[in-house]
Amino acid sequence: MSSSIEQLLAHNKEKSLLDANKRVYISTYGCQMNVNDTERMYSLLEMANYSPVTTPDQADLIIINSCSIREKPVHKVYSEVGKYRKLKDRNPHLRIGVGGCVGQQEKENLIKSSPLIDFVFGTDNIDLLPSIIARSEQSGVGGKVVEAKFHHREPYHVETLVRNPGVATFVNITKGCDNFCTFCVVPYTRGREKSRPLQHVMDDVHKLVARGTKEVTLLGQNVNSYESDCGADFADLLEKIARETDVQRIRYTTSHPKDFNQKLIDVMARNQPKICEYIHLPFQSGSTRILERMNRGYTREEYLEKISMIKAAIPNVVLSTDIIVGFPGETEEDFLDTVRLVQEVGPETIFAFKYSPRPFTKAAQFTDQVEESVKDDRLARLFAAHDIVGKELAKKYDGQTLDILVEGHDEDRGNLHGRSSQNKNVFFNGDKSLIGKMVPVKITKAFSATMRGELQ
Ligand code: SAH
Ligand code: SF4
Ligand code: F3S
Repeated sequence: MSSSIEQLLAHNKEKSLLDANKRVYISTYGCQMNVNDTERMYSLLEMANYSPVTTPDQADLIIINSCSIREKPVHKVYSEVGKYRKLKDRNPHLRIGVGGCVGQQEKENLIKSSPLIDFVFGTDNIDLLPSIIARSEQSGVGGKVVEAKFHHREPYHVETLVRNPGVATFVNITKGCDNFCTFCVVPYTRGREKSRPLQHVMDDVHKLVARGTKEVTLLGQNVNSYESDCGADFADLLEKIARETDVQRIRYTTSHPKDFNQKLIDVMARNQPKICEYIHLPFQSGSTRILERMNRGYTREEYLEKISMIKAAIPNVVLSTDIIVGFPGETEEDFLDTVRLVQEVGPETIFAFKYSPRPFTKAAQFTDQVEESVKDDRLARLFAAHDIVGKELAKKYDGQTLDILVEGHDEDRGNLHGRSSQNKNVFFNGDKSLIGKMVPVKITKAFSATMRGELQ
């Protein structure tokens, strides 16, 4: 993709068709990648004279930025589009588009099955959005556009585009994924893995800091396989941002256990508190047999080994993880290995899901699929087991004073909220002039992900 948005718009011959004062509504599903892509879409469309609105009934353009990671994603798109039927009856010029991972996965099938959809665009085609809309408008009511090709041969050169970056914001550093975990659709919906050049990421962070951003989260499906064209790896990038920019806090997500190494741990340890003492490190299963079938590239023992390395270098580290239950062939014993791994590692938060067969993936073809009722039962038991672990771990925060970077203010309740280095959401009373500041807050009530406190 071209790096300069101005260039893009200049090349967009149909730009004049994008009338002034049109209104756009984007409905976003899925991961932070999609949240960031939605920001990019709003920014591009603002440059093309669209203003964002907060409800679909005010819009001339509705975009569904879809997610395909689990259960019935295509159905969800159709059911949301169905809700807009009345709006379209009232205003035949209303355009409805589908982007994101379902758009990439289904392409023209979406339009074939739902005539209400005017255009579909893939995850690699966001920068073409103004031109896609213009083409859809040019072809009149009933004209359809599908643009869902990957640009595998082009380097990953995009500038971070966020309208109001605020106190904390995301910066993409990689796109796509080459890991092909057997359960996962992402390599098919996001294409091959590519890294942005280190200097581009640095430029973005400098610019965001100049606009008032205090915290950046580096984003990618597997950030620690980052490799800049200059040869720098993820640890090098992290250290350079920590040392050479004025950002106050750095986070990243998601890292992969197989690529987590001592060099990265050392960089984190020596750049605290700037690099937050929080790591989201998904293990998916506690059974080596299942991990192998998932093609995760590590064993239970290797995961535990990495956790010990991390805890040795960063004693106060807070961990979270993703877990799948009911992967094909998972026995009760495999599941119990997962529960025991949770108890051994002690993640303060878990994101656990029932396995859901995804199109194109190997595991969807496995013949030993697990019954839905067994998955339900295991998920409930896993959450119950973690509840005990999470509550125990949360106790240590009672009475502790944490540095909170204030992100927002709730006018009605007079509440400020912000996050601690450990990624806990903390709510406390205070004045909104504190937004953007780092303040000490004494924790009075601690749950595993949210807390209540008093400004010190
Ligand atoms: N790149 C990240 C994961 C991104 S997807 C990583 O490798 O950790 C986010 C989470 O969704 C995954 O960690 C996994 O727990 C879950 N997930 C992915 N595919 C799934 C599927 N088919 N069924 C259930 N959960 C799935
Ligand atoms: Fe999916 Fe695995 Fe890639 Fe994560 S690392 S996005 S789970 S294929
Ligand atoms: Fe969903 Fe695509 Fe993200 S499938 S989780 S929106 S990468």
